[in-house]
Amino acid sequence: MHELGRLEDLPPDYVDELRKLNLVPLWPSLRAVLPPGKPRPNTKPTFWSYQALRPLLMRAGELTPMQKAERRVLVLANPGHGLDNMKASAAMYLGMQLLLPGEWAPSHRHTPNAVRMIVEGEGAYTTVDGEKCPMSRGDLILTPSGLWHEHGHDGTEPVVWLDVLDLPLVYYMETSYAIEGKRQDVKPERGDVAYARGGIVPTPVFTRADKPYPMLRYPWVEARAALLALGTDRPGQDCVQVSYVNPETGGYAENILGFYALMLRPGQTLRLPARSPASVFHVIEGGAAAEIDGQHFNLAEADTCCAPGYTPVTLRNTSADQPSFVFIADETPLHKKLGVFETRE
Ligand SMILES: [Fe+2]
Repeated sequence: MHELGRLEDLPPDYVDELRKLNLVPLWPSLRAVLPPGKPRPNTKPTFWSYQALRPLLMRAGELTPMQKAERRVLVLANPGHGLDNMKASAAMYLGMQLLLPGEWAPSHRHTPNAVRMIVEGEGAYTTVDGEKCPMSRGDLILTPSGLWHEHGHDGTEPVVWLDVLDLPLVYYMETSYAIEGKRQDVKPERGDVAYARGGIVPTPVFTRADKPYPMLRYPWVEARAALLALGTDRPGQDCVQVSYVNPETGGYAENILGFYALMLRPGQTLRLPARSPASVFHVIEGGAAAEIDGQHFNLAEADTCCAPGYTPVTLRNTSADQPSFVFIADETPLHKKLGVFETRE
C-alpha cells in the first residue's frame, strides 16, 4: 500500500483557505478512517474486579444519597476510549448500580436500550412498562428504548446489578435523551410468567401479543436449567450457549445489543473466533480465565471483562469439577443490521 500525501506537504495558505470554507483534504486522513485489512479499535481488553469495585460502590452509597444520584452507578469505563467517555466499547456502556434497602430510583424513560444483570442481593425489583420484575442473582431484565422504568427495594441487604446500555451508540447518533415520570401503576400481567416455557407462547387472541417486548424478565433459574439441559443433550458440542430472544419473534431480545448465557463445562477451554462485534463477559457462577489479544484475566464470580471486535477470545473454566456460567453482551444485532458483521478464523 503506497504512501499518501501528508497535510504538512500542502502549502499552509492552501490549507487555511480550505478550512475557511469548511473543507478538508481527504488523502492525509484516508488511511486512518479506512485502515488496511482490519479496523484499529480503541476498545482495549479490560478487566473489572467485583471484589475491588464493591467497597467503592458501597462507599458511594454512604457518600451520595439517592436524591443526589437518581441512579447510583460506577461506570466500567474502557481506558482505550478515555475514561470520561464512559464506554466499554464503541456501542456498549457498562455500569454497576447500587440500590440500598428502602431506596427508590425514580421512574424515567430514555432512548438508549438497557438491560440489568443482577449481581447480588434479594428484594429489589424493577417496574418496566407497569410490569413489576423481581430481581434475583443472574436474572436479566430488559428496559428497552422508550419504556418507563424505576427501581425499588423491599429487602434488607444492598442490591447490585450490572447495567448494559447501547448509550455510546445512541449518544453518538445525537438521539440520546431521557424523560422523568411519575411512579408507575403496576399492572397484573407478567411476560416472564406468560412465556415461562420455551416453545410455548400465549395464543394472541387472549393476550397483548402486539407488545414489541413481550418478555421483560429472563429468570436465571430458567437460563441455567436450559444450559445444563443443552450440555447434557449435546455432550460433543463445544459452545454450550443460549441467546436471550424475544419469544414472539425469535429475534434478539433488544434491537442493538445481543445477550447470551454460556456454560463452560468443568475444565473446558473454549476458543471463540474473531468476530467484528466487541463483547463483554461477566461471570455469574464459577470462574473463568480469559485470554484476549495476549492479555490474561482471571475472572471470579461477578467479575467482568471486555474484548474488542476482530479479536479471538479464549475462555477456560478454572474449575475441574464444576461448570461455570458466563453472561455475554455484544454488538452482534447492530453489526448484522448494518451489514458489517463478520467472523474471521
Ligand atoms: Fe434508565
